[in-house]
Amino acid sequence: MNILILGSGGREYSIGLALTRDPDVDKIWFAPGNGATDALGENIAISDFGALADFAEEQGVDLTIVGPEAPLVDGVVDRFQERGLTIFGPTAAAAQLEGSKIFMKNFLARHNIPTARYIETGLLEEAEAFIDTLPTPVVVKADGLCGGKGVIIASTHNEAKQAAKDMLAGTAFGDAGMKIVVEEYLDGYELSVFAICDGKDYVVLPAAQDHKRLLNDDQGPNTGGMGAYAPTPLVNDSIYRQLDETVIRPTLAGMEAEGMPFTGVLFIGVMVVDGKPIVLEYNVRFGDPECEELMPLLKSPASELFYKAATGDLANATIEFYDQYAVGVVVASKDYPYKSSAPAEIIVDDIHHDDLAEHTHISYAGVTRERDGKLYATGGRVLVCVGMGDSIAKARDRAYMLVGQVHFVGKQCRTDIAYQVLKDAV
Ligand code: AMP
Ligand code: GLY
Repeated sequence: MNILILGSGGREYSIGLALTRDPDVDKIWFAPGNGATDALGENIAISDFGALADFAEEQGVDLTIVGPEAPLVDGVVDRFQERGLTIFGPTAAAAQLEGSKIFMKNFLARHNIPTARYIETGLLEEAEAFIDTLPTPVVVKADGLCGGKGVIIASTHNEAKQAAKDMLAGTAFGDAGMKIVVEEYLDGYELSVFAICDGKDYVVLPAAQDHKRLLNDDQGPNTGGMGAYAPTPLVNDSIYRQLDETVIRPTLAGMEAEGMPFTGVLFIGVMVVDGKPIVLEYNVRFGDPECEELMPLLKSPASELFYKAATGDLANATIEFYDQYAVGVVVASKDYPYKSSAPAEIIVDDIHHDDLAEHTHISYAGVTRERDGKLYATGGRVLVCVGMGDSIAKARDRAYMLVGQVHFVGKQCRTDIAYQVLKDAV
């Protein structure tokens, strides 16, 4: 099978890495890929959807996998499907689940799926009146895509009103904030739950926990994610069952009933409050860095999972996972997430220790390869060190041993990934 992967992050690298281990895969292209994906396949510098579909046709690509949300929201799946090409991801209509928070909240309300109490509005007076009815903190969200930055958790009513005012005036997030959602704050613990969907059927992956803040103990600014682990023991059978019955099934049935069956990754941002999963948000693609931990846990061939999902055939798939844990530690550049940093050469020590070599790997993200063949850290999140093990503590220890083998000027990472479940472990 020939596979084209759209995207350039650690997420796409990890999907590519899983496909290199799959005997059914012959050739992999990345568009555009990063400085390290060229070691897994071939990078191509094409971004126009029509030109990508031409490429897929000419090269006999059997399956295209879309990593990030932007091309999905912009309709890359529709363009490929019009041409009769097989592509894994939701159509633009279905991608509204991520592209518009108002669409998502109204969809959840229409289908009785548990979510925080909210209003959507384009009027400041309405926002202010609702803010006054909520206890603090209050959550204010821009409607459109803001690269994960369009959510303000305001600790006072005045701060919430100011955030609503800035968004609605277009000063905070431009057009993405011309309409907003104001909602109640949910106090619980967060999970990332991923269902691979084919429009009707789905496979739920092991639940993960991300670490969104830059610094240890969940301090500092929000980031794209500084590390994750899976599966998390914070999800018991009762939560999986509730997710299934109250969230995933009604979502797929609702999307189908509304004429936009959902194919692709349904990424459910969940807050568990008093043992009940409540939907914070949907994304329509893999989380990054969660994907980097989930791909190595996949025992079944990755091409089977994605191809069967893309062709509506998941009912005929038996997807298996290793009975293991994965911990991923994001190693970021010096000034992440504030500004870009000067390129820095990455040196990875030779790993002579068999245990480490066997149970760890790197997923590369913000890197470029210079003419001399060396890798340079150029992006915000540079790479993810992933450790595997039969306990979370073991996987975590291996991931951090690998972090110690990686060097570049300004390297930073959290040192407490998976702390939620390892508080008492050494
Ligand atoms: P979102 O992009 O909607 O997931 O929001 C980003 C982050 O803000 C989430 O991962 C949560 O940590 C937090 N958040 C969003 N909505 C709420 C809420 N209603 N209550 C508490 N935290 C929230
Ligand atoms: N790690 C969270 C995200 O990708 O949105």
